[in-house]
This record gives sequence, C-alpha cells and structure tokens, in this order.
Amino acid sequence: MADLRTRYMKIDLKNPVILASSPITASLDQLKRAEDAGYAAVVLKSIFEEFINSQSAKALGAKDANLNHADAYGFLEQAAKEYQIDKYLTLVEKAKKALGIPVIASINCSDQEGWLEYAKRFEAVGADGLELNYYIVASNARIKGSEIDKSYLNLVKHARLNTSLPLSIKIGSFFSSPSNMIRAFSDIGVDGQVLFNSFLQPDIDIERLSLAAGKPLESKGDYGTSLRWVALMSAEIQGDLCAATGIRDGETVVKMLLAGASAVQVCTAAMKSLDVVKSMTAFIAEWMDRKGFKSIYDFKGKLAQEHIENPELWERAQYVKALNS
Ligand SMILES: Cc1cc2nc3c(=O)[nH]c(=O)nc-3n(C[C@H](O)[C@H](O)[C@H](O)COP(=O)(O)O)c2cc1C
Repeated sequence: MADLRTRYMKIDLKNPVILASSPITASLDQLKRAEDAGYAAVVLKSIFEEFINSQSAKALGAKDANLNHADAYGFLEQAAKEYQIDKYLTLVEKAKKALGIPVIASINCSDQEGWLEYAKRFEAVGADGLELNYYIVASNARIKGSEIDKSYLNLVKHARLNTSLPLSIKIGSFFSSPSNMIRAFSDIGVDGQVLFNSFLQPDIDIERLSLAAGKPLESKGDYGTSLRWVALMSAEIQGDLCAATGIRDGETVVKMLLAGASAVQVCTAAMKSLDVVKSMTAFIAEWMDRKGFKSIYDFKGKLAQEHIENPELWERAQYVKALNS
C-alpha cells in the first residue's frame, strides 16, 4: 500500500496535503474538522500586524482625555495589542492540545522590527512551526525593486534570528528574479518556502461606482506559475518547497510532488468542501499504486528541472506547446 508520508520544514506529515491559512483555520471547531477530514497539518489564519495596530488604536479612541499623556497612550496601546495577541496565542495553545496533527502559526507583518519578537511566544505555546506571510504592493514608484527585495530579506533574517521554530516564508511570484529571492531565503536558513500566495485583488462595482472586494472562491486558480517555479527551484535550494495556489485535485498534488514540492497547501478548494483532502489523498495513493511507487520519495522531484533530459522545457513553454501539437 502506498506510503503518503512526507516531511516539510522539518515536520513529519502523514500525507502531503496541508490546510492553508484562511478563514477556515481561524477557529478550534474548524481545525478539529480539518483533522478529521484528513489534512496532514494546518496553518492558522494569519495574525495581521496592521489589523492589530488598527484595532488597538480603535479600542483606545483618540479623544480619550487620559491619552494626552504620551506614556499612558503607549501603555494602553500595548495593552490593547496584548489582548489581540493573547487571543491568537490561546488559539494556538488550544489547537495544540486538541489536535494530533502539526499546527503552524502564521504572521502577516508590515513592519521589520519588534513584531517578530512574538515568534518566541508562539514557541512557548507549542506551535510546530511559523509561516511568515509578508507582501508589499510595490505601488510607490520611488522605491526600487532592489529596496523591496532587501526589505523581504531583512524581515526573514530577523525572523530566523528570533525563533528556533521551523520557519517558512510564503511569497507571491512578483519579484524581478524569483529564483534569486528563493535562493536568498534558502541561504538565510528558512526551513520551507510556500510558492506562491495569491492575493485578493480589489474589484470595481460598476453599478455603485465604487470599489468592491474581489471574489476569492470564483478564481480560476491557475497552478501553472507555482508548478514551474517549484520545478525550477526544488533541487537548487536547502529546505523544502510547499506548492500553493490553484491546487484543486489529487492530480495537481501529484504534479507538484513530481516537480519537487514536499507538500502542498489547499485553500479555495477546502473552503468549498473541506473533504476535498479525501479525494486528493485517495487519488495520490491510487496513482502511486498504478505507477509502482511505494513512497512519495520514489518520485518526488523526478520532473524537477535538474532531473530531466531537456531542462530548458521548464523555461520555454512555447517549446512544450510545439512538442505537443
Ligand atoms: C478568504 C481568504 C483568506 C485568506 N487568508 C489568508 C491569511 O490569513 N494568511 C495567508 O497566509 N493566506 C491567506 N489566504 C491565502 C491562502 O492561504 C492561499 O495561499 C491562496 O488562497 C491560494 O491558494 P488556493 O488557490 O488554494 O486558494 C487567504 C485566502 C482566501 C481566499
């Protein structure tokens, strides 16, 4: 019988399917259901630094007379932040007590310093790993791409120094050289990289003539960009790659493993039906049996760029198209 076990960011997993950070990983109830459905691990909904800062400012109320005193403001602001962070730490702690599968905490940070000190507190409550969800919308035309790259690298360096937990970075694909950045994160010593996050894009409501929220569950979820970069980078770096975006079925999970991913993260498909993991793992097992693979390691990375006869095929999609026509 096929052995679906794998290892991602130094964490042993019973199969390669992880429930991605999302609204369905924000409550203990949902997390227990995820474990029952068969996910190998869960990444908790990110704790958002910007949200916490805005909530604590709101909780204080700018007109409060006591707040004219700078020290009092600082103290109360910190207390309001602590309250939000405690809520998150309690979720991590309860999840660890209630679940048998690994629980990965996730921080979305907008600031370089200070915030990541909290990584230590995730460690204290027993998180199995920490995923950094960091992105910058490069809308300021005066800031060079190289400065943005530097800010990513500084953040990851700082995080690496501040936690001994298995650490991963979840990135988008919008770098002028994704390969250079992925290699640089690896050199810093991250244990895993999630390729790629896909970001909610604002939309326009043409009746109200206003901005509208994008519709995440309606996205087509193209996995092609993630597949290509996993294949290009998996044999080039230390640490593991986790494929994300557009993974809707077992066939796509198998493709990501063949490209060299150690695991995958699933969000939209799981939000539509949490049980999608069952059909994914059943498909992987059936496919492995059919192909004569006993373990994930028998085929992981078999079609990564480094391991195929014509490595340029991963770079020249037109060529692949020509070959198949
Ligand atoms: C409604 C929604 C909320 C999300 N919240 C988070 C989050 O808090 N942190 C995070 O790292 N990713 C978050 N994501 C991104 C997902 O984890 C995932 O990376 C992305 O949706 C691509 O995967 P998919 O194609 O399987 O949906 C969210 C996605 C959606 C749709």
